[in-house]
Amino acid sequence: MAGLFITFEGGDGSGKSTQSSILVDRLTNEGRTVIVSREPGGTELGVELREIILHRRGYIAPRAEALIYAADRAHNIATLVRPALERGDIVVQDRYLDSSVAYQGAGRVLNPKEVRDVSLWAVEGLLPDLTILLDLDEAIGRERLDDSRTKYDRLEAEKRDFHARVRDAYLTLAAEEPGRFLVLDGALPVESIAESIRGRVDSLLTGQPS
Ligand code: TYD
Repeated sequence: MAGLFITFEGGDGSGKSTQSSILVDRLTNEGRTVIVSREPGGTELGVELREIILHRRGYIAPRAEALIYAADRAHNIATLVRPALERGDIVVQDRYLDSSVAYQGAGRVLNPKEVRDVSLWAVEGLLPDLTILLDLDEAIGRERLDDSRTKYDRLEAEKRDFHARVRDAYLTLAAEEPGRFLVLDGALPVESIAESIRGRVDSLLTGQPS
């Protein structure tokens, strides 16, 4: 496929949206056609699925949750991302199948390999050319989101544990596919992270090593 598919991954408050908009602005200013998407919710159907999965009250069975993310992904790839890549455009996307493996797998209920296989089926095997993982201690991410809070209750402590597992899962994925992943320390200054991303993306665009 002629285009370039770049995904951003990381925990809450890791700086994904800041970095993706810096990258998108730069590529657009260079005159490139950039399609921006996100999961869940990159398409019209996806917006409805996102509403269900993130805001619906009440229990959703873990396998149902994993399948809703996969359905969102299938539709996003089939109707938005793949056509863009076939036109030769650049797609910059917030979250992709690694999010499912890290988040749904980290709940410990689902087998990460099975979660990945379901997603791969949903997207007919499409993997990104580059996945930028903004790695950050969950406590720092949380502070960034809400720096007024200093204490955690029991439930929040459980959540912390969950986010720590998500982080570990991401790092394991990155170690398994070092060619696809660029792991950056999310605690570094915004400019320095942007510089590293720029270097890697430019080398993909020019075909030269960074
Ligand atoms: P979002 O508001 O997009 O989070 P963020 O701003 O942190 O990217 O919400 C997406 C949430 O959905 C986020 O908590 C991660 C979760 N998620 C999964 O659990 N599995 C998935 O496959 C995807 C794409 C997201």
